Amino acid sequence: MSEVSGFIGSGNDDITATQSWQALAAHQPHVYAMHLREVFAVDPGRGSDLTVDVGDLHIDYSKHRVLRETLELLMSLAREVGLEDLRDDMFAGKHINTSEDRAVLHTALRLPAGARLSVDGQDVVHDVHQVLGAMGEFTDRLRSGDWKGHTGKPITDVVNIGIGGSDLGPAMVYQALRHYADGPRCHFVSNVDPADLVGTLADLDAETTLFVIASKTFTTLETLTNAAAARTWLLTRLGTDTTDAVAKHFVAVSTNADKVSAFGIDTHNMFGFWDWVGGRYSVDSAIGLSVMAAVGKDRFAEFLSGFHLVDEHFRTQPLEQNAPVILGLIGLWYTNFWDMQSRVVLPYSNDMARFAAYLQQLTMESNGKSVTAHGHHVATDTGEIFWGEPGTNGQHAFYQLLHQGTRIVPSDFIGFAESTDDIVDDTAGSMHDLLMSNFFAQTKVLAFGKTADEIAAEGVDPHVVAHKVMPGNRPSTSILAPELTPSVIGQLIALYEHQVFVEGMIWGINPFDQWGVELGKTQAKELLGVITDSEAPPAQGDSSTDDLVRWYRTHRGR
Ligand code: F6P
Repeated sequence: MSEVSGFIGSGNDDITATQSWQALAAHQPHVYAMHLREVFAVDPGRGSDLTVDVGDLHIDYSKHRVLRETLELLMSLAREVGLEDLRDDMFAGKHINTSEDRAVLHTALRLPAGARLSVDGQDVVHDVHQVLGAMGEFTDRLRSGDWKGHTGKPITDVVNIGIGGSDLGPAMVYQALRHYADGPRCHFVSNVDPADLVGTLADLDAETTLFVIASKTFTTLETLTNAAAARTWLLTRLGTDTTDAVAKHFVAVSTNADKVSAFGIDTHNMFGFWDWVGGRYSVDSAIGLSVMAAVGKDRFAEFLSGFHLVDEHFRTQPLEQNAPVILGLIGLWYTNFWDMQSRVVLPYSNDMARFAAYLQQLTMESNGKSVTAHGHHVATDTGEIFWGEPGTNGQHAFYQLLHQGTRIVPSDFIGFAESTDDIVDDTAGSMHDLLMSNFFAQTKVLAFGKTADEIAAEGVDPHVVAHKVMPGNRPSTSILAPELTPSVIGQLIALYEHQVFVEGMIWGINPFDQWGVELGKTQAKELLGVITDSEAPPAQGDSSTDDLVRWYRTHRGR
């Protein structure tokens, strides 16, 4: 802990006792009393001023319940906790993951080959590029058909078996880059519910299928169970039990060579990474192997360069012009000073359908903590709840609550100038324009609404006027990019990764461990013995679990 800078390093835990925090608390009622209509009326320049461009991303944060003064106070808070030093500690490879005594270096995964970074005596950039080189050689062979299955046929389908960070990232990016995919088809199996594996394998041919077993630890129950079932499926279909068949159809991505070997995968067919890459920060490591197989190593390099561009922005820009800092602080402003519970992410891009699910792990597994890095209970709320769906589907589902509900949910809208698949009709015009007109309309209506007077002036039945009032004053960020490219999806991921960091550092928590997922895993192991053995006493120490176990055993005939 001693080597960590800033507020966390100082041993101070109570963020609410800082001067900037108290200034923000005193300032909040003033902003609360203002409608965004008024905020824009008194400060008409904010629509163009409260924007920031990073890489290909144009980010408008003017429709937030913040005044220029609010932003100044938030920046003071960031300075008071020593955010810049903490950020530098992360980039330098200091062990800021204190509970696991690890560096946090996902940013090193996207450093260009010529960069230099030595951590704990190891040349990190060299190691990263060595693995990228091996991934490139392997995926070139897959994509060209040079890599043959056991019966001599080229691979047409890759099945990534992994869960959490070993699934969500590659699955989300593969879908987002659908238009760049010119290699084998990719499929993603994560759930220990056999329906996932069975449903995926139903249409696949064992002779032309390759499995990527992706697990940082190579101990994860879901992944190892699915991997063993996939191996049985493959060997049964091929009518063989030779190690050659496994070697030609299974590769691994892991930090744990011993376990990979114990599973029966030749470690020559293993792509490694390091304990300084957290699972939810690993899509740009070898965990992205299936993405590289689909789009090729050059596109994958563009993907990494997108991350790096935002890393450099985050590392070097003053806080006031720093996109992840601004957006992270605004998220914290709502969480802690407005008691807003969640943030909704709304990509106006069907190809980004899994983006919210991806962000759920990134943000909530990182910042869902209630003790500080020092192990004391936090003095304030942490951890925004992330959720979302692509527009326009969400508009016909939950936007009613966003517009007129009693809860206010800040939203992130993401949209593109160019469509991946536009359809243009002579009379109806471009479907993509139709999509984006919805994006702009929603952010406008959320912010400015429609008053009872405006509605009554349209001659609406007086009984209905109250129901039609659109209160507005609901905040949103608009993120626009020219098109959804490999670089842009990398930029977007890095934009959120660094927001998580900003919030976590101010809350004084450790965003890089995840102890909260462990107890459920060990209890599931114990309960497996109880639910499968009719002789075992169901005694779990509580009458609810006992009763549920009895019910389940009865219905399973045990
Ligand atoms: O259980 C949570 C978790 O540890 C995540 O942090 C991680 O991404 C996921 O499980 C999968 O872990 P692994 O890659 O080690 O299989």
